Amino acid sequence: MFRTHTNGELSLKNLNEEVTLSGWVQTIRDKGFMIWIDLRDRYGITQLVFDQDRSSAALLENAKKLGREFVIQVTGKVIERASKNPKIPTGEIEILVSNLKVLNSAQLPPFTIEDETDGGEELRMKYRYLDIRRNPVREKLIFRHEMAQKIRNYLSNEGFIEVETPVLIKSTPEGARDFVVPSRMNPGQFYALPQSPQTFKQLLMVGGMDRYFQIVKCFRDEDLRADRQPEFTQIDCEMAFVEQEDIMQTFEGLTRHLLKEVTGKEFEKFPRMTFADAMQKYGNDKPDIRFDMVFHELNDLVKGKGFKIFDEAELVVGINVKGCASYTRKQIDELTEWIKRPQIGANGMVWIKYLDDGSVSSSVNKFYNEDDLKKITREFGAKPGDLILILCGNKIKVRPQLSALRMELGNRLGLRKGNEFAPLWVIDFPLLEWDEELQRYHAMHHPFTSPKPEDIHLLKDEAGKARANAYDLVMNGNEIGGGSIRIFDKELQAQLFKLLGFTTEEAENQFGFLMNAFKYGAPPHGGIAFGFDRLVAILDGNEIIRDYIAFPKNNSGRDVMIDAPASIAKEQLDELEIAIKINE
Ligand code: AMO
Repeated sequence: MFRTHTNGELSLKNLNEEVTLSGWVQTIRDKGFMIWIDLRDRYGITQLVFDQDRSSAALLENAKKLGREFVIQVTGKVIERASKNPKIPTGEIEILVSNLKVLNSAQLPPFTIEDETDGGEELRMKYRYLDIRRNPVREKLIFRHEMAQKIRNYLSNEGFIEVETPVLIKSTPEGARDFVVPSRMNPGQFYALPQSPQTFKQLLMVGGMDRYFQIVKCFRDEDLRADRQPEFTQIDCEMAFVEQEDIMQTFEGLTRHLLKEVTGKEFEKFPRMTFADAMQKYGNDKPDIRFDMVFHELNDLVKGKGFKIFDEAELVVGINVKGCASYTRKQIDELTEWIKRPQIGANGMVWIKYLDDGSVSSSVNKFYNEDDLKKITREFGAKPGDLILILCGNKIKVRPQLSALRMELGNRLGLRKGNEFAPLWVIDFPLLEWDEELQRYHAMHHPFTSPKPEDIHLLKDEAGKARANAYDLVMNGNEIGGGSIRIFDKELQAQLFKLLGFTTEEAENQFGFLMNAFKYGAPPHGGIAFGFDRLVAILDGNEIIRDYIAFPKNNSGRDVMIDAPASIAKEQLDELEIAIKINE
Protein backbone atom coordinates (compact mmCIF):
# COMPACT_ATOMS: atom_id res chain seq x y z
CA MET A 1 0.00 0.00 0.00
CA PHE A 2 1.46 3.33 -1.03
CA ARG A 3 -0.53 5.47 1.37
CA THR A 4 -3.04 5.35 4.19
CA HIS A 5 -4.02 9.00 3.72
CA THR A 6 -3.59 11.78 1.20
CA ASN A 7 -1.53 14.88 1.95
CA GLY A 8 -4.57 17.06 2.46
CA GLU A 9 -6.48 15.22 5.13
CA LEU A 10 -4.59 14.75 8.39
CA SER A 11 -5.40 16.97 11.37
CA LEU A 12 -5.20 16.98 15.17
CA LYS A 13 -7.94 14.31 15.09
CA ASN A 14 -5.29 11.87 13.85
CA LEU A 15 -2.82 12.67 16.63
CA ASN A 16 -0.43 9.79 17.42
CA GLU A 17 -1.68 7.65 14.52
CA GLU A 18 0.89 5.81 12.47
CA VAL A 19 0.35 6.82 8.81
CA THR A 20 1.91 6.23 5.41
CA LEU A 21 1.99 9.06 2.85
CA SER A 22 3.28 9.36 -0.71
CA GLY A 23 3.92 12.37 -2.87
CA TRP A 24 6.39 14.88 -4.26
CA VAL A 25 8.96 16.82 -2.26
CA GLN A 26 7.93 20.45 -2.61
CA THR A 27 10.34 22.20 -0.26
CA ILE A 28 13.19 21.12 2.00
CA ARG A 29 14.31 23.18 4.99
CA ASP A 30 17.54 21.71 6.34
CA LYS A 31 18.74 23.11 9.67
CA GLY A 32 21.41 20.44 10.03
CA PHE A 33 20.03 18.86 13.15
CA MET A 34 16.48 19.03 11.85
CA ILE A 35 14.89 18.74 8.40
CA TRP A 36 11.39 19.75 7.39
CA ILE A 37 9.89 18.65 4.12
CA ASP A 38 6.63 19.73 2.53
CA LEU A 39 5.15 16.66 0.86
CA ARG A 40 2.69 17.44 -1.92
CA ASP A 41 0.02 15.55 -3.83
CA ARG A 42 -3.21 16.57 -5.56
CA TYR A 43 -4.98 16.93 -2.22
CA GLY A 44 -2.60 19.20 -0.38
CA ILE A 45 0.62 19.49 1.58
CA THR A 46 1.73 17.69 4.73
CA GLN A 47 4.83 18.70 6.67
CA LEU A 48 7.32 15.93 7.43
CA VAL A 49 9.94 16.24 10.13
CA PHE A 50 13.22 14.41 10.70
CA ASP A 51 15.41 15.30 13.70
CA GLN A 52 18.63 14.34 15.37
CA ASP A 53 17.01 13.39 18.69
CA ARG A 54 14.05 11.44 17.45
CA SER A 55 15.21 9.97 14.09
CA SER A 56 18.03 7.52 13.46
CA ALA A 57 21.26 8.93 12.00
CA ALA A 58 20.78 6.84 8.83
CA LEU A 59 17.27 8.22 8.30
CA LEU A 60 18.49 11.80 8.75
CA GLU A 61 21.29 11.11 6.27
CA ASN A 62 18.81 9.75 3.70
CA ALA A 63 16.53 12.72 4.15
CA LYS A 64 19.46 15.03 3.43
CA LYS A 65 19.90 13.36 0.04
CA LEU A 66 16.39 14.22 -1.13
CA GLY A 67 15.86 16.84 -3.78
CA ARG A 68 12.90 18.92 -4.99
CA GLU A 69 10.23 16.88 -6.80
CA PHE A 70 11.60 13.50 -5.66
CA VAL A 71 8.72 11.03 -5.36
CA ILE A 72 8.84 9.52 -1.88
CA GLN A 73 6.87 7.34 0.52
CA VAL A 74 7.10 7.89 4.27
CA THR A 75 5.72 6.20 7.36
CA GLY A 76 5.55 8.03 10.65
CA LYS A 77 3.53 9.34 13.57
CA VAL A 78 1.14 12.30 13.46
CA ILE A 79 2.35 14.85 16.01
CA GLU A 80 1.28 18.38 16.93
CA ARG A 81 3.31 21.16 15.33
CA ALA A 82 5.15 23.64 17.46
CA SER A 83 4.51 26.53 15.04
CA LYS A 84 1.15 26.07 13.35
CA ASN A 85 0.18 27.22 9.85
CA PRO A 86 -3.47 28.30 9.82
CA LYS A 87 -3.39 28.74 6.04
CA ILE A 88 -3.52 25.01 5.19
CA PRO A 89 -5.89 22.30 6.47
CA THR A 90 -3.00 20.13 7.72
CA GLY A 91 -1.26 23.12 9.33
CA GLU A 92 -1.65 21.98 12.92
CA ILE A 93 0.22 18.68 12.57
CA GLU A 94 3.38 17.22 11.11
CA ILE A 95 4.64 13.66 10.59
CA LEU A 96 7.62 12.48 12.61
CA VAL A 97 9.04 10.15 9.97
CA SER A 98 10.28 6.71 10.95
CA ASN A 99 10.66 5.25 7.47
CA LEU A 100 11.57 6.88 4.16
CA LYS A 101 11.57 5.26 0.73
CA VAL A 102 12.55 7.06 -2.45
CA LEU A 103 10.11 5.89 -5.16
CA ASN A 104 11.77 7.99 -7.84
CA SER A 105 14.39 10.67 -8.02
CA ALA A 106 13.83 13.84 -10.06
CA GLN A 107 15.89 16.35 -11.96
CA LEU A 108 15.73 19.88 -10.68
CA PRO A 109 12.55 21.31 -12.28
CA PRO A 110 13.02 24.23 -14.70
CA PHE A 111 10.77 26.47 -12.57
CA THR A 112 9.51 26.49 -9.00
CA ILE A 113 6.39 24.44 -8.52
CA GLU A 114 4.60 26.75 -6.15
CA ASP A 115 1.50 28.97 -6.36
CA GLU A 116 3.68 31.88 -7.47
CA THR A 117 6.21 30.51 -9.93
CA ASP A 118 9.29 31.98 -11.57
CA GLY A 119 8.50 30.15 -14.84
CA GLY A 120 7.45 32.20 -17.86
CA GLU A 121 4.49 31.19 -20.05
CA GLU A 122 6.47 29.40 -22.76
CA LEU A 123 8.56 27.42 -20.24
CA ARG A 124 5.50 26.38 -18.26
CA MET A 125 3.80 25.21 -21.46
CA LYS A 126 6.84 23.19 -22.48
CA TYR A 127 6.74 21.43 -19.11
CA ARG A 128 3.00 21.60 -18.72
CA TYR A 129 2.96 18.36 -16.66
CA LEU A 130 5.03 20.20 -14.03
CA ASP A 131 2.80 23.28 -14.30
CA ILE A 132 -0.22 21.03 -13.60
CA ARG A 133 1.37 20.11 -10.24
CA ARG A 134 0.85 23.73 -9.19
CA ASN A 135 -2.30 24.52 -7.21
CA PRO A 136 -3.64 27.33 -9.42
CA VAL A 137 -3.47 25.18 -12.54
CA ARG A 138 -4.79 22.04 -10.92
CA GLU A 139 -7.65 23.93 -9.28
CA LYS A 140 -8.72 25.31 -12.65
CA LEU A 141 -8.80 21.84 -14.19
CA ILE A 142 -10.82 20.54 -11.26
CA PHE A 143 -13.23 23.49 -11.62
CA ARG A 144 -13.63 22.62 -15.30
CA HIS A 145 -14.41 19.01 -14.38
CA GLU A 146 -17.00 20.12 -11.82
CA MET A 147 -18.71 22.37 -14.35
CA ALA A 148 -18.82 19.55 -16.92
CA GLN A 149 -20.41 17.26 -14.31
CA LYS A 150 -23.04 19.83 -13.39
CA ILE A 151 -23.85 20.52 -17.04
CA ARG A 152 -24.20 16.80 -17.85
CA ASN A 153 -26.45 16.26 -14.85
CA TYR A 154 -28.59 19.30 -15.55
CA LEU A 155 -29.12 18.51 -19.21
CA SER A 156 -29.69 14.79 -18.58
CA ASN A 157 -32.34 15.71 -16.01
CA GLU A 158 -33.98 17.94 -18.64
CA GLY A 159 -34.24 14.96 -20.99
CA PHE A 160 -31.21 15.67 -23.20
CA ILE A 161 -29.29 12.69 -24.58
CA GLU A 162 -25.53 12.95 -25.15
CA VAL A 163 -24.70 11.62 -28.61
CA GLU A 164 -21.20 11.55 -30.09
CA THR A 165 -20.80 12.79 -33.64
CA PRO A 166 -17.86 12.03 -35.93
CA VAL A 167 -14.61 13.94 -35.99
CA LEU A 168 -13.55 12.97 -39.51
CA ILE A 169 -16.14 14.78 -41.56
CA LYS A 170 -16.66 17.12 -44.47
CA SER A 171 -16.24 20.86 -44.07
CA THR A 172 -18.83 22.65 -41.86
CA PRO A 173 -19.39 26.28 -42.73
CA GLU A 174 -18.91 28.10 -39.40
CA GLY A 175 -16.84 30.85 -40.94
CA ALA A 176 -13.29 29.81 -40.03
CA ARG A 177 -10.83 27.71 -42.02
CA ASP A 178 -10.95 23.94 -41.65
CA PHE A 179 -8.20 21.70 -40.38
CA VAL A 180 -7.98 18.86 -42.88
CA VAL A 181 -6.84 15.27 -42.66
CA PRO A 182 -5.70 13.38 -45.75
CA SER A 183 -7.29 10.01 -46.43
CA ARG A 184 -4.87 7.16 -47.24
CA MET A 185 -7.63 4.96 -48.60
CA ASN A 186 -8.91 7.75 -50.82
CA PRO A 187 -5.80 9.41 -52.21
CA GLY A 188 -6.17 13.08 -52.98
CA GLN A 189 -9.20 13.36 -50.71
CA PHE A 190 -9.43 14.96 -47.31
CA TYR A 191 -11.60 14.85 -44.26
CA ALA A 192 -12.21 18.11 -42.43
CA LEU A 193 -12.26 18.28 -38.63
CA PRO A 194 -15.59 19.71 -37.45
CA GLN A 195 -15.75 23.42 -36.69
CA SER A 196 -18.87 22.32 -34.83
CA PRO A 197 -21.24 19.34 -35.05
CA GLN A 198 -23.84 21.67 -36.60
CA THR A 199 -25.09 19.53 -39.47
CA PHE A 200 -24.97 16.29 -37.46
CA LYS A 201 -27.08 17.69 -34.66
CA GLN A 202 -29.65 18.81 -37.21
CA LEU A 203 -29.63 15.30 -38.68
CA LEU A 204 -30.18 13.92 -35.16
CA MET A 205 -33.32 16.05 -35.02
CA VAL A 206 -34.47 14.55 -38.34
CA GLY A 207 -33.62 11.22 -36.66
CA GLY A 208 -36.12 12.01 -33.90
CA MET A 209 -33.66 12.40 -30.98
CA ASP A 210 -35.67 15.46 -29.90
CA ARG A 211 -33.16 16.75 -27.31
CA TYR A 212 -29.44 16.31 -27.97
CA PHE A 213 -26.32 17.58 -26.28
CA GLN A 214 -22.63 16.86 -26.45
CA ILE A 215 -19.57 18.23 -24.71
CA VAL A 216 -17.44 18.12 -27.79
CA LYS A 217 -14.12 19.17 -29.28
CA CYS A 218 -14.35 21.59 -32.23
CA PHE A 219 -11.52 22.71 -34.50
CA ARG A 220 -11.09 26.07 -36.19
CA ASP A 221 -8.06 27.30 -38.04
CA GLU A 222 -8.30 30.97 -37.15
CA ASP A 223 -6.11 33.67 -35.65
CA LEU A 224 -5.74 33.10 -31.94
CA ARG A 225 -6.53 35.40 -29.02
CA ALA A 226 -6.93 35.01 -25.28
CA ASP A 227 -10.47 33.72 -25.79
CA ARG A 228 -9.74 31.48 -28.78
CA GLN A 229 -7.97 28.17 -29.23
CA PRO A 230 -7.68 26.16 -32.47
CA GLU A 231 -9.23 23.20 -30.68
CA PHE A 232 -11.79 24.09 -28.08
CA THR A 233 -14.83 22.54 -26.47
CA GLN A 234 -18.49 23.30 -27.02
CA ILE A 235 -21.54 22.33 -25.05
CA ASP A 236 -23.47 21.68 -28.23
CA CYS A 237 -27.24 21.39 -27.98
CA GLU A 238 -30.25 20.98 -30.26
CA MET A 239 -33.98 20.65 -29.66
CA ALA A 240 -36.91 19.72 -31.89
CA PHE A 241 -40.41 21.22 -31.89
CA VAL A 242 -39.25 24.47 -30.34
CA GLU A 243 -39.31 28.18 -30.95
CA GLN A 244 -36.60 30.67 -30.07
CA GLU A 245 -38.25 31.38 -26.72
CA ASP A 246 -38.15 27.68 -25.69
CA ILE A 247 -34.44 27.48 -26.37
CA MET A 248 -33.65 30.71 -24.58
CA GLN A 249 -35.64 29.59 -21.53
CA THR A 250 -33.97 26.17 -21.43
CA PHE A 251 -30.41 27.46 -21.68
CA GLU A 252 -31.00 30.46 -19.49
CA GLY A 253 -32.08 27.81 -16.98
CA LEU A 254 -28.79 25.96 -17.39
CA THR A 255 -26.74 29.16 -17.09
CA ARG A 256 -28.69 30.34 -14.06
CA HIS A 257 -28.17 26.94 -12.43
CA LEU A 258 -24.40 27.18 -12.97
CA LEU A 259 -24.30 30.77 -11.68
CA LYS A 260 -26.19 29.66 -8.56
CA GLU A 261 -23.78 26.78 -8.02
CA VAL A 262 -20.76 29.08 -8.37
CA THR A 263 -21.98 32.17 -6.49
CA GLY A 264 -24.69 30.75 -4.23
CA LYS A 265 -26.96 33.53 -5.51
CA GLU A 266 -30.19 33.39 -7.53
CA PHE A 267 -29.98 35.38 -10.78
CA GLU A 268 -32.90 37.34 -12.16
CA LYS A 269 -34.24 36.79 -15.64
CA PHE A 270 -31.43 37.73 -18.05
CA PRO A 271 -31.87 41.05 -19.84
CA ARG A 272 -32.27 41.02 -23.61
CA MET A 273 -30.89 43.53 -26.08
CA THR A 274 -31.26 43.68 -29.83
CA PHE A 275 -28.14 43.58 -31.95
CA ALA A 276 -28.97 47.08 -33.21
CA ASP A 277 -29.18 48.45 -29.65
CA ALA A 278 -25.99 46.69 -28.58
CA MET A 279 -24.13 48.25 -31.49
CA GLN A 280 -25.58 51.69 -30.84
CA LYS A 281 -25.11 51.73 -27.05
CA TYR A 282 -21.92 49.69 -26.67
CA GLY A 283 -20.44 49.59 -30.19
CA ASN A 284 -20.24 45.82 -30.06
CA ASP A 285 -22.45 42.74 -30.05
CA LYS A 286 -21.13 41.35 -26.76
CA PRO A 287 -21.39 44.26 -24.36
CA ASP A 288 -20.00 44.09 -20.85
CA ILE A 289 -22.91 45.52 -18.89
CA ARG A 290 -21.21 45.25 -15.50
CA PHE A 291 -20.41 48.93 -15.93
CA ASP A 292 -22.05 51.95 -17.49
CA MET A 293 -20.23 54.26 -19.95
CA VAL A 294 -23.05 53.84 -22.47
CA PHE A 295 -22.51 55.54 -25.83
CA HIS A 296 -24.28 58.80 -26.58
CA GLU A 297 -24.56 59.89 -30.21
CA LEU A 298 -23.86 63.60 -30.54
CA ASN A 299 -24.43 64.48 -34.20
CA ASP A 300 -27.32 66.84 -33.37
CA LEU A 301 -25.35 68.70 -30.71
CA VAL A 302 -21.98 69.11 -32.38
CA LYS A 303 -22.51 69.61 -36.08
CA GLY A 304 -22.62 73.03 -37.75
CA LYS A 305 -20.28 74.83 -35.34
CA GLY A 306 -17.34 75.06 -37.69
CA PHE A 307 -15.43 72.04 -36.44
CA LYS A 308 -14.74 70.36 -39.75
CA ILE A 309 -13.76 66.98 -38.39
CA PHE A 310 -17.11 66.57 -36.62
CA ASP A 311 -19.05 68.16 -39.47
CA GLU A 312 -17.70 65.66 -41.95
CA ALA A 313 -18.06 62.58 -39.78
CA GLU A 314 -20.92 60.14 -40.23
CA LEU A 315 -21.10 59.61 -36.47
CA VAL A 316 -19.86 61.61 -33.48
CA VAL A 317 -20.19 59.50 -30.37
CA GLY A 318 -18.88 59.63 -26.82
CA ILE A 319 -18.77 58.13 -23.36
CA ASN A 320 -18.83 59.63 -19.89
CA VAL A 321 -15.93 58.44 -17.76
CA LYS A 322 -17.29 59.20 -14.32
CA GLY A 323 -15.03 60.92 -11.83
CA CYS A 324 -12.10 61.25 -14.22
CA ALA A 325 -12.09 65.01 -14.93
CA SER A 326 -8.92 65.12 -12.86
CA TYR A 327 -7.02 63.23 -15.59
CA THR A 328 -3.88 65.17 -16.43
CA ARG A 329 -2.91 66.26 -19.91
CA LYS A 330 -0.37 63.45 -19.86
CA GLN A 331 -2.96 60.82 -19.01
CA ILE A 332 -5.29 62.01 -21.76
CA ASP A 333 -2.43 62.13 -24.28
CA GLU A 334 -1.54 58.56 -23.34
CA LEU A 335 -5.15 57.44 -23.89
CA THR A 336 -5.18 59.24 -27.23
CA GLU A 337 -2.01 57.43 -28.27
CA TRP A 338 -3.60 54.18 -27.10
CA ILE A 339 -6.60 54.53 -29.40
CA LYS A 340 -4.41 55.67 -32.30
CA ARG A 341 -2.44 52.40 -32.24
CA PRO A 342 -2.98 50.43 -35.46
CA GLN A 343 -4.95 47.73 -33.60
CA ILE A 344 -7.62 50.34 -32.75
CA GLY A 345 -7.00 52.85 -35.50
CA ALA A 346 -8.77 56.01 -34.28
CA ASN A 347 -7.57 59.33 -35.69
CA GLY A 348 -7.89 61.28 -32.50
CA MET A 349 -10.04 61.98 -29.47
CA VAL A 350 -11.89 65.00 -28.17
CA TRP A 351 -12.30 65.50 -24.43
CA ILE A 352 -14.59 67.60 -22.29
CA LYS A 353 -13.91 68.01 -18.58
CA TYR A 354 -16.81 68.93 -16.32
CA LEU A 355 -14.76 70.44 -13.55
CA ASP A 356 -15.55 70.30 -9.84
CA ASP A 357 -16.34 74.05 -9.76
CA GLY A 358 -19.08 73.48 -12.37
CA SER A 359 -17.17 74.99 -15.29
CA VAL A 360 -16.35 73.07 -18.46
CA SER A 361 -13.20 72.92 -20.48
CA SER A 362 -12.41 70.94 -23.59
CA SER A 363 -9.93 70.23 -26.35
CA VAL A 364 -12.31 71.96 -28.79
CA ASN A 365 -12.89 75.27 -26.93
CA LYS A 366 -12.19 77.07 -30.18
CA PHE A 367 -15.40 75.76 -31.76
CA TYR A 368 -17.73 75.24 -28.84
CA ASN A 369 -18.63 77.81 -26.19
CA GLU A 370 -19.49 77.02 -22.57
CA ASP A 371 -23.16 76.73 -23.43
CA ASP A 372 -22.53 74.22 -26.27
CA LEU A 373 -20.32 72.13 -24.02
CA LYS A 374 -22.84 72.18 -21.14
CA LYS A 375 -25.47 70.85 -23.54
CA ILE A 376 -23.20 67.92 -24.28
CA THR A 377 -22.55 67.21 -20.61
CA ARG A 378 -26.30 67.28 -20.03
CA GLU A 379 -26.81 64.73 -22.81
CA PHE A 380 -24.61 62.36 -20.79
CA GLY A 381 -26.20 63.24 -17.46
CA ALA A 382 -22.65 64.16 -16.42
CA LYS A 383 -21.82 65.56 -12.98
CA PRO A 384 -18.96 67.80 -11.88
CA GLY A 385 -15.82 65.67 -11.87
CA ASP A 386 -16.77 63.69 -15.00
CA LEU A 387 -14.73 63.35 -18.17
CA ILE A 388 -16.36 62.99 -21.58
CA LEU A 389 -14.41 61.36 -24.39
CA ILE A 390 -15.59 61.67 -27.98
CA LEU A 391 -14.60 59.92 -31.20
CA CYS A 392 -15.91 60.38 -34.71
CA GLY A 393 -15.84 58.67 -38.08
CA ASN A 394 -17.72 56.05 -40.05
CA LYS A 395 -20.20 54.12 -37.92
CA ILE A 396 -18.62 50.86 -38.85
CA LYS A 397 -15.19 51.99 -37.66
CA VAL A 398 -15.90 54.40 -34.84
CA ARG A 399 -18.19 52.11 -32.84
CA PRO A 400 -15.60 49.35 -32.37
CA GLN A 401 -12.97 52.00 -31.60
CA LEU A 402 -15.04 53.59 -28.85
CA SER A 403 -15.98 50.12 -27.64
CA ALA A 404 -12.29 49.22 -27.29
CA LEU A 405 -11.69 52.46 -25.36
CA ARG A 406 -14.67 51.73 -23.10
CA MET A 407 -13.38 48.24 -22.31
CA GLU A 408 -9.85 49.53 -21.70
CA LEU A 409 -11.15 52.16 -19.28
CA GLY A 410 -13.35 49.51 -17.66
CA ASN A 411 -10.21 47.46 -17.03
CA ARG A 412 -8.09 50.40 -15.88
CA LEU A 413 -10.75 51.69 -13.51
CA GLY A 414 -11.34 48.22 -12.03
CA LEU A 415 -14.95 48.13 -13.23
CA ARG A 416 -14.68 44.63 -14.73
CA LYS A 417 -14.76 42.59 -11.56
CA GLY A 418 -14.22 38.84 -12.00
CA ASN A 419 -16.62 37.94 -9.21
CA GLU A 420 -19.52 39.90 -10.71
CA PHE A 421 -21.58 38.31 -13.45
CA ALA A 422 -23.68 40.16 -15.98
CA PRO A 423 -25.34 37.74 -18.40
CA LEU A 424 -27.51 39.00 -21.24
CA TRP A 425 -29.06 37.80 -24.46
CA VAL A 426 -28.32 39.60 -27.67
CA ILE A 427 -31.11 38.94 -30.18
CA ASP A 428 -32.35 39.97 -33.63
CA PHE A 429 -29.02 39.60 -35.40
CA PRO A 430 -28.95 40.44 -39.08
CA LEU A 431 -29.25 37.25 -41.13
CA LEU A 432 -26.54 38.24 -43.60
CA GLU A 433 -23.41 40.33 -43.62
CA TRP A 434 -22.13 42.09 -46.73
CA ASP A 435 -18.55 41.22 -47.57
CA GLU A 436 -17.05 44.29 -49.30
CA GLU A 437 -13.99 42.41 -50.48
CA LEU A 438 -15.82 39.48 -52.07
CA GLN A 439 -18.83 41.64 -53.02
CA ARG A 440 -21.28 39.11 -51.65
CA TYR A 441 -23.23 38.15 -48.55
CA HIS A 442 -22.14 35.65 -46.02
CA ALA A 443 -24.19 34.21 -43.18
CA MET A 444 -23.78 36.12 -39.93
CA HIS A 445 -24.32 32.93 -37.90
CA HIS A 446 -24.33 30.04 -40.36
CA PRO A 447 -26.28 29.17 -43.52
CA PHE A 448 -28.84 27.03 -41.66
CA THR A 449 -30.15 29.93 -39.56
CA SER A 450 -33.75 30.86 -40.15
CA PRO A 451 -34.76 34.41 -41.00
CA LYS A 452 -37.46 35.88 -38.79
CA PRO A 453 -40.74 34.80 -40.44
CA GLU A 454 -41.82 38.46 -40.73
CA ASP A 455 -38.58 39.27 -42.59
CA ILE A 456 -38.66 36.43 -45.15
CA HIS A 457 -40.24 38.75 -47.72
CA LEU A 458 -37.10 40.94 -47.57
CA LEU A 459 -34.92 38.14 -48.93
CA LYS A 460 -35.99 38.94 -52.47
CA ASP A 461 -34.81 42.55 -52.80
CA GLU A 462 -33.48 43.77 -49.46
CA ALA A 463 -31.82 40.68 -48.03
CA GLY A 464 -29.33 42.75 -46.04
CA LYS A 465 -32.19 44.07 -43.91
CA ALA A 466 -33.55 40.65 -42.91
CA ARG A 467 -33.09 39.71 -39.26
CA ALA A 468 -32.40 36.18 -38.07
CA ASN A 469 -33.95 34.02 -35.41
CA ALA A 470 -30.53 33.95 -33.81
CA TYR A 471 -29.35 34.72 -30.28
CA ASP A 472 -26.08 34.99 -28.42
CA LEU A 473 -25.57 34.52 -24.73
CA VAL A 474 -23.12 37.13 -23.50
CA MET A 475 -21.46 37.35 -20.11
CA ASN A 476 -19.06 40.02 -18.88
CA GLY A 477 -18.23 41.18 -22.39
CA ASN A 478 -17.68 37.70 -23.83
CA GLU A 479 -19.80 35.72 -26.24
CA ILE A 480 -20.21 32.49 -24.33
CA GLY A 481 -22.83 30.92 -26.56
CA GLY A 482 -24.69 31.34 -29.79
CA GLY A 483 -27.46 29.60 -31.63
CA SER A 484 -30.46 29.90 -33.84
CA ILE A 485 -33.71 28.45 -35.04
CA ARG A 486 -32.91 26.48 -38.17
CA ILE A 487 -34.43 26.49 -41.58
CA PHE A 488 -36.27 23.20 -41.90
CA ASP A 489 -37.90 23.87 -45.24
CA LYS A 490 -35.78 22.78 -48.18
CA GLU A 491 -37.08 25.53 -50.49
CA LEU A 492 -36.11 28.28 -48.05
CA GLN A 493 -32.75 26.58 -47.46
CA ALA A 494 -32.14 26.50 -51.23
CA GLN A 495 -33.01 30.23 -51.40
CA LEU A 496 -30.48 30.97 -48.65
CA PHE A 497 -27.72 28.98 -50.32
CA LYS A 498 -28.38 30.96 -53.47
CA LEU A 499 -28.18 34.28 -51.60
CA LEU A 500 -24.87 33.14 -50.13
CA GLY A 501 -23.52 32.63 -53.60
CA PHE A 502 -23.64 28.84 -53.83
CA THR A 503 -24.65 27.46 -57.21
CA THR A 504 -27.24 24.68 -57.02
CA GLU A 505 -24.44 22.28 -57.80
CA GLU A 506 -22.13 23.58 -55.06
CA ALA A 507 -24.96 23.49 -52.52
CA GLU A 508 -25.80 19.96 -53.58
CA ASN A 509 -22.18 18.93 -53.40
CA GLN A 510 -21.57 20.40 -49.94
CA PHE A 511 -24.91 20.02 -48.23
CA GLY A 512 -26.79 17.47 -50.37
CA PHE A 513 -26.98 15.10 -47.41
CA LEU A 514 -28.80 17.68 -45.30
CA MET A 515 -31.12 18.81 -48.07
CA ASN A 516 -31.87 15.19 -48.77
CA ALA A 517 -32.65 14.51 -45.10
CA PHE A 518 -35.07 17.44 -45.15
CA LYS A 519 -37.12 15.56 -47.77
CA TYR A 520 -37.97 12.92 -45.18
CA GLY A 521 -39.83 14.92 -42.57
CA ALA A 522 -37.60 17.38 -40.72
CA PRO A 523 -39.19 18.72 -37.52
CA PRO A 524 -38.95 22.41 -36.66
CA HIS A 525 -35.76 22.65 -34.64
CA GLY A 526 -33.11 24.93 -33.22
CA GLY A 527 -30.25 24.96 -30.79
CA ILE A 528 -27.28 26.63 -29.26
CA ALA A 529 -23.64 25.95 -28.52
CA PHE A 530 -21.75 27.32 -25.55
CA GLY A 531 -18.01 27.80 -25.67
CA PHE A 532 -17.26 25.53 -22.72
CA ASP A 533 -13.70 26.83 -22.17
CA ARG A 534 -14.96 30.42 -22.15
CA LEU A 535 -17.89 29.65 -19.90
CA VAL A 536 -15.64 27.90 -17.38
CA ALA A 537 -13.02 30.68 -17.43
CA ILE A 538 -15.63 33.40 -16.92
CA LEU A 539 -17.50 31.55 -14.17
CA ASP A 540 -14.13 31.27 -12.43
CA GLY A 541 -13.63 35.05 -12.72
CA ASN A 542 -11.10 34.87 -15.54
CA GLU A 543 -11.00 35.43 -19.31
CA ILE A 544 -7.94 33.50 -20.48
CA ILE A 545 -9.24 30.14 -21.67
CA ARG A 546 -5.75 28.63 -22.06
CA ASP A 547 -5.53 28.38 -18.27
CA TYR A 548 -8.54 26.05 -18.24
CA ILE A 549 -7.23 23.68 -20.91
CA ALA A 550 -4.88 20.92 -19.73
CA PHE A 551 -2.63 21.02 -22.80
CA PRO A 552 -3.33 24.23 -24.74
CA LYS A 553 -1.73 25.60 -27.88
CA ASN A 554 0.28 28.84 -27.91
CA ASN A 555 -0.58 31.93 -29.95
CA SER A 556 0.98 30.46 -33.08
CA GLY A 557 -1.18 27.37 -32.72
CA ARG A 558 1.75 25.25 -31.53
CA ASP A 559 1.89 22.69 -28.78
CA VAL A 560 5.38 23.50 -27.53
CA MET A 561 5.48 20.44 -25.28
CA ILE A 562 5.02 17.77 -27.94
CA ASP A 563 6.33 20.14 -30.63
CA ALA A 564 3.35 19.97 -32.94
CA PRO A 565 2.61 20.56 -35.73
CA ALA A 566 5.61 18.76 -37.18
CA SER A 567 6.70 17.44 -40.53
CA ILE A 568 6.02 13.77 -41.27
CA ALA A 569 8.17 11.05 -42.78
CA LYS A 570 8.50 10.80 -46.55
CA GLU A 571 7.02 7.27 -46.43
CA GLN A 572 3.91 8.63 -44.75
CA LEU A 573 3.59 11.34 -47.40
CA ASP A 574 4.12 8.81 -50.18
CA GLU A 575 1.47 6.54 -48.76
CA LEU A 576 -0.94 9.50 -48.75
CA GLU A 577 0.19 10.40 -52.26
CA ILE A 578 1.02 13.90 -51.09
CA ALA A 579 3.89 15.82 -52.61
CA ILE A 580 5.15 18.72 -50.52
CA LYS A 581 6.72 21.76 -52.04
CA ILE A 582 9.43 23.01 -49.73
CA ASN A 583 10.68 26.53 -50.34
CA GLU A 584 14.26 26.74 -49.23
P1 AMO B 1 -20.53 29.60 -32.75
O1 AMO B 1 -19.64 29.63 -33.93
O2 AMO B 1 -21.13 30.89 -32.27
O3 AMO B 1 -21.79 28.67 -33.02
O4 AMO B 1 -19.77 28.90 -31.57
C1 AMO B 1 -20.40 28.70 -30.31
C2 AMO B 1 -19.51 29.18 -29.19
O5 AMO B 1 -18.24 28.53 -29.21
C3 AMO B 1 -17.26 29.40 -28.67
N1 AMO B 1 -16.12 29.48 -29.61
C4 AMO B 1 -14.82 29.34 -29.26
N2 AMO B 1 -14.25 29.14 -28.08
C5 AMO B 1 -12.90 29.02 -28.04
N3 AMO B 1 -12.10 29.09 -29.12
C6 AMO B 1 -12.62 29.30 -30.35
N4 AMO B 1 -11.83 29.34 -31.41
C7 AMO B 1 -14.06 29.44 -30.45
N5 AMO B 1 -14.91 29.65 -31.48
C8 AMO B 1 -16.14 29.66 -30.95
C9 AMO B 1 -17.90 30.74 -28.44
C10 AMO B 1 -19.15 30.66 -29.27
O6 AMO B 1 -20.20 31.44 -28.73
N6 AMO B 1 -22.93 25.55 -34.53
C11 AMO B 1 -23.11 26.86 -33.93
C12 AMO B 1 -24.03 26.83 -32.73
C13 AMO B 1 -25.49 26.67 -33.08
O7 AMO B 1 -25.98 27.37 -33.99
O8 AMO B 1 -26.16 25.89 -32.39
C14 AMO B 1 -21.73 27.39 -33.50
O9 AMO B 1 -20.74 26.70 -33.50
O10 AMO B 1 -18.23 30.86 -27.06
